Amino acid sequence: MSAPSAPNEDLPTELPGVVLRRLTAVDAPQYRALVHRNLVHLGRDGDWRDEVAATLAEIERRFADHPDADQTFGIFEWDTLIGQVTLVHGAPTKWGLGYWLTAATTGRGVMTASIQAVLDHAQDALGATAVLASVSVGNDASTAVLDRLAFVAVARLTSSTRYRRTLH
Ligand SMILES: CC(C)(COP(=O)(O)OP(=O)(O)OC[C@H]1O[C@@H](n2cnc3c(N)ncnc32)[C@H](O)[C@@H]1OP(=O)(O)O)[C@@H](O)C(=O)NCCC(=O)NCCS
Repeated sequence: MSAPSAPNEDLPTELPGVVLRRLTAVDAPQYRALVHRNLVHLGRDGDWRDEVAATLAEIERRFADHPDADQTFGIFEWDTLIGQVTLVHGAPTKWGLGYWLTAATTGRGVMTASIQAVLDHAQDALGATAVLASVSVGNDASTAVLDRLAFVAVARLTSSTRYRRTLH
């Protein structure tokens, strides 16, 4: 186990210039603009109505207060926000996973590298033993990310599949 990272220390990835950093209230305008610019891309495989309706003040509050012990990371490439990975706190050592990239930054392995960095953080700093993700049926790009990271399908539901990655 490596030393736990400080709350807002960058999580490095294997890709040059790509790091993950906990989002703060300062990031809210950039985050909100990015969601609105990527609505068509994001809306293909999920329901983003609540996120689109969220006001700047609500997003600022969410990032400032870190509610529910969730950990929301921005993916930054050379200091530009290009996506997000969220660890959702579930049972004491189990976390859920949510993630997205801007349309323009897909197809380069950024998400695979980013989630690997978050898995390392979850194991080393949070003592996580498992990370779970749920993917809508037909979201092949997302399924491919989880396959590359050795997640295993544990439940097939009507409209989604649940995946699990055990950490040691
Ligand atoms: C899901 C999502 C993040 C996947 O993005 P992605 O770019 O396909 O994933 P990665 O960043 O890991 O890149 C993988 C692609 O880069 C390529 N690639 C290049 N170098 C790579 C590397 N070193 N490692 C892995 N993949 C690499 C892969 O071949 C793959 O390309 P392909 O789709 O043409 O086969 C993106 O489609 C997205 O944001 N979708 C909308 C939101 C969403 O669905 N979120 C998930 C909800 S469950």
